[in-house]
Amino acid sequence: MISFTQTTNFFGNTNPMELANRYGTPLYVYNENILRRQMRNVANLIPIPNFTANYSIKTNSNLSILRLAMEEGLSADAMSPGEIYVLLKAGFPKERIFYVSNNVSAEELQYAIDQGIMTSLDSLSQLDLYGQLNPGGRCAVRLNPGVGAGHHEKVITGGKKTKFAIAESDVPEIAQIAARHNLKIVGVNQHIGSLFMDGTPFITAVEHFLQLALRFPDLEFADFGGGFGIPYHKLSGEKEFDLASFGKDIEKAVADFTSKYGRSIVFKCEPGRYVAAEGGVLLGRVHALKQNSGVSYAGTDIGMNVLVRPSMYDSWHDIEVYRDGAPVIAEEGNMHAVTVVGNICESGDILAKDRELPTIQENDVLCVLDAGAYGYSMSSNYNNRLRPAEVLIGIDGEPRLIRRRDRLEDLVAGFTELES
Ligand SMILES: Cc1ncc(COP(=O)(O)O)c(C=O)c1O
Repeated sequence: MISFTQTTNFFGNTNPMELANRYGTPLYVYNENILRRQMRNVANLIPIPNFTANYSIKTNSNLSILRLAMEEGLSADAMSPGEIYVLLKAGFPKERIFYVSNNVSAEELQYAIDQGIMTSLDSLSQLDLYGQLNPGGRCAVRLNPGVGAGHHEKVITGGKKTKFAIAESDVPEIAQIAARHNLKIVGVNQHIGSLFMDGTPFITAVEHFLQLALRFPDLEFADFGGGFGIPYHKLSGEKEFDLASFGKDIEKAVADFTSKYGRSIVFKCEPGRYVAAEGGVLLGRVHALKQNSGVSYAGTDIGMNVLVRPSMYDSWHDIEVYRDGAPVIAEEGNMHAVTVVGNICESGDILAKDRELPTIQENDVLCVLDAGAYGYSMSSNYNNRLRPAEVLIGIDGEPRLIRRRDRLEDLVAGFTELES
C-alpha cells in the first residue's frame, strides 16, 4: 500500500510530527501545489472562452485558500451573506461572486442587492420577494432538472425529493412574476448533488437543464453546479474522476444549446469538493487505546466537532498512521481492525469503524486524508471544544499558519452577560 502523503510530498520540508508538535493537534494542513492543480483543472474544464469555473466556498472558505482561487482565475459562489462578506474580504470583485440563495430573509437579499451581487432565487415566492425589493433588477433562477446524484440522500439536491430549486411545472410562472416586477432573468443555475464519480446523471441533468434554459430569452449565463467527486478510497486504488471526458460531454451539450439558442452565453460550473478535498489532511493524536467487548478502540483528539462527515454521512476517509516522523507502512502481519473515535461525549463520535490499520500506538499521529473539503467549514465548538488551527504548506515546502486555533476566551466572546 502506498503512502499518499509521501508520493505527493504533501508535507514539503516538514512532517506530521513536527507540525503536530509545533502547532498542536487536531490540525488541518493544506498543500498549495495540490490546491492550485485542482483549481487549474476546473478552470480548464471546457476549453471555450465563454466558460467560467466558480469555486463553491462552502467547502473551505479560509481566506488564504480563497486568495489562491482568485489567483488561479476562479470566480466563486456564495450560499450566505457571510460567504459574500468573506469573499469581498478576500478581494473578489463583486462581478466574480454569485449568490445561490435558499429560503432567505428580505434582509439577506437586500444585503446582496446593496453589494451588487448577482443572485439566484430558488422558489417562486423568493423570486417575488426579490422583485419587491429590487424592481427592474437582474437576477437568476435555480431550476430543478428532475435528476439528482450524490453520495448520500442528504446531499442530493435535484430530482423529486429535495427542498431546492424551481420545478419544471413552475417555470411558466417565473415569467409572470418577472414581468410583474420588471425583472430580467439573465441567468439560470442548477446543482444536482454532491460527490458523484460517474458523470452520466450530471450530463443528463445538463441536457435537461439546457432544454429548460431555452425558455428564457434574456440569458447571459447558465451555471451547471458542482458535485464532481474525488477518490476517497485512494489507498485502495480508487481512480480519479475522469474530468477530461466529462468536460467533452459538457462541451457537446453546450454547443448544441448555443446553436438552438442562436447566440452565445457564458457557461459556468461551481465545484467545491473537487477543488479543496485532496489538498487538505487532518492530523490528530492518539491519546488512548482500549478494548471494549472485543472491539479495539483508538481514542484520538479528532472529534466529530472537527470532522463531522463520518458521523453525519457515514463517510469514508483514508487514514495514514505516522510515528517518529514517518508513515507506518501497512503490511501483512502488522494490520489490526480498530475503531477510531474522538473525544466528544457522543457514541456516534466515530471517525472510522473496524478499520484495518497498521497497529496503532499511543502518541501516534493519524493523518486523515481528503479532509480539505467540508472539514473545517463544518467544524463546530460542540462540547465547548476549540476549533483547530489551519496550516498551508506553500510551494516552497514551508508551513504557514493561516488560521489560529480557537482560544478558550473565544468560547465566551459572544456572551452579553459575562460579568454578572
Ligand atoms: C448550489 C451548490 N453549488 C455547489 C456546491 C458544491 O458542491 P461540491 O462540493 O460537491 O462540488 C454545492 C454543495 O452542496 C451546492 O449546494
